[in-house]
Amino acid sequence: MLRTAVLVSGGGTNLQAILDAKRGGRIPHAEIALVIASNPSAYALQRAEQAGVPGTVVQKAKDEAVEAYGERLLAVLRENRIDLCVLAGFLTILPENVIRAYDHRILNIHPSLIPSFCGKGFYGLRVHEAALARGVKLTGATVHFVNEIPDGGDIIAQKAVAVQPGDTPGILQRRVMEEAEWLLLPAALEDVARTIENGGN
Ligand code: GRF
Repeated sequence: MLRTAVLVSGGGTNLQAILDAKRGGRIPHAEIALVIASNPSAYALQRAEQAGVPGTVVQKAKDEAVEAYGERLLAVLRENRIDLCVLAGFLTILPENVIRAYDHRILNIHPSLIPSFCGKGFYGLRVHEAALARGVKLTGATVHFVNEIPDGGDIIAQKAVAVQPGDTPGILQRRVMEEAEWLLLPAALEDVARTIENGGN
């Protein structure tokens, strides 16, 4: 079983989906070994505690060099013998030293169909605002590996969600979570963990 860390910054509904899937036996190849929050007030930490998963905070200090922050993060990952990372609403840009150390071992969920509405500046409600402003009829979510290009790594899984008349960014965000993100992320985690355990890449 691959020791997996979930990195979070906020509410943690995607973390919850992973924890629920794990409890339901749908992620047999990964153990949720650690939750790392980018700030101490992330509600996701409470979800981790309720599930009996250790949680910790690794916060980038304002004037801290990116590489130094990356080293601190890597130290926590290594101390906990983490094989695989999942970014589930993690808002801090990952330093390159972390990305290099975990090449094709870090998954991210993005709430659009990449390559639409992704990259620098596209996070949270902004993604859905942009989709509505462009008038797309389909949006969705993407799970991809993390590389040095924001939202630019290899795509693992995608799921489309219909835009409905009268949608607001908030309504659309909720539908994308319910119909795509919360299903896609646990399933992608299991797929990747199983592939690695079976000797794939
Ligand atoms: C999700 O929309 C995810 O796609 C994005 O950030 C949001 C996190 O929500 N990367 P939550 O903290 O999992 O509730």
